[in-house]
Amino acid sequence: MNILIVGAGGREHTFAYKLAQSKECEKLFVAPGNAGTANIATNVNIGVTDFDKIKELVLSEAIKMVVVGPEVPLVEGIYDYFKNDSELKEVAVIGPSAEAAQLEGSKEYAKEFLVRHNIPTAAYQSFTPETVSEGQTFLETLKAPYVLKADGLAAGKGVLIIDNLEEAKKELAEMLTNSKFGEASNKVVIEEFLDGIELSVFVLTDGKNYITLPTAKDYKRIGEGDTGLNTGGMGAISPVPFADDAFMNKIETQVVKPTVEGIIKDNLDYKGFIFIGLIKVDGEPKVIEYNVRMGDPETEAVLPRVNNDLLDMFKHVANQTLDKVVLDLDPRTAVTVMTVAGGYPEAYEKGDEITGIDNVEGSIVFQAGTTHKNGKIVTNGGRVLTVTSFGDNFKEALAVSYKNVKKINFKGINYRTDLGFDL
Ligand code: AMP
Ligand code: GLY
Repeated sequence: MNILIVGAGGREHTFAYKLAQSKECEKLFVAPGNAGTANIATNVNIGVTDFDKIKELVLSEAIKMVVVGPEVPLVEGIYDYFKNDSELKEVAVIGPSAEAAQLEGSKEYAKEFLVRHNIPTAAYQSFTPETVSEGQTFLETLKAPYVLKADGLAAGKGVLIIDNLEEAKKELAEMLTNSKFGEASNKVVIEEFLDGIELSVFVLTDGKNYITLPTAKDYKRIGEGDTGLNTGGMGAISPVPFADDAFMNKIETQVVKPTVEGIIKDNLDYKGFIFIGLIKVDGEPKVIEYNVRMGDPETEAVLPRVNNDLLDMFKHVANQTLDKVVLDLDPRTAVTVMTVAGGYPEAYEKGDEITGIDNVEGSIVFQAGTTHKNGKIVTNGGRVLTVTSFGDNFKEALAVSYKNVKKINFKGINYRTDLGFDL
């Protein structure tokens, strides 16, 4: 089978790494891919929302499966584009429809879904430019800190957590009337603050059946001890040690099962990954957010632990026979340590040579913001590459990753040395 992966990050490199191991995988393409995917697949220089160009490629290369990495093409309707096209409708698309992708594309849509299906989540209300003053009055009824969320996609930056009431009122007005996050903040969800420890659960569904994949914890802030600006993710650990069997049972019955049943009840066309961001409050799971894709860098720690043939799993997703798949997991812990360009998540340089990848021993390097230039591998993004290792526990696994990270170099290389500090 010929397969196309849409995306360019470490998540997509991991998909390529797993799919390339399948006996049934013939030609593997990545659009647009990076220097890492170029080693195991054919990169095609097509943007992730250029559906017409993707169609041309799919037809000319007889591609039968499209695996969508990032959220933007899903929210923009890549699934529906395929299903509504007579030449493409038999192609398996791994990812939800545009309607279902609103679970990530609109915070309000997600909150309404959670409430409708009795899934535990923070209390909330949403506001528009016409109701700014009602929003400010609502803030007065809450206790600090105040959680303000831009309704739409904001590349992970649309959530503000503010200690001071007056500042929260000002930011609400900025979001709604001054488009602080562009169109994404034309609507704002104000939420009750939840105090607890976060983890993420990943689910693969065919729209009828589902498999719960391993948990992971990611480290979003740039600085040690979870300080400084938010990033796309500086590393991940899977499984999460505090998610014991009793807590996982609660997650399964209170969150995962009702989520998939809600998708079925609401008639949502959903064949793909569900990423559920959770917070453990007084021993109980509460949903913070849905994403309609795998996490990055969580994928780089979660998927290497899945021994199953990923292509076989995706075929069962497409055929709605996921109930035939028995998950085969590596019991060890996997961690991934992200290296980023100097300055990231603010301004950073691109085009700096990366050395030392070939010296890595006992870890897997998944590349993210990399490309080839004059026969060399160079940086091409803020998050550059991530180093995944296994161990009997997260400390052992981290020791292997950190040993190997030291062998890699590029100008301004930065990474967090404290992953797992909170566990
Ligand atoms: P989100 O984009 O909804 O995942 O929010 C980004 C981050 O903000 C989350 O990973 C949490 O750390 C934090 N956050 C979101 N909602 C809440 C909440 N209701 N209470 C506490 N922290 C939250
Ligand atoms: N690492 C967080 C995300 O993929 O959204």
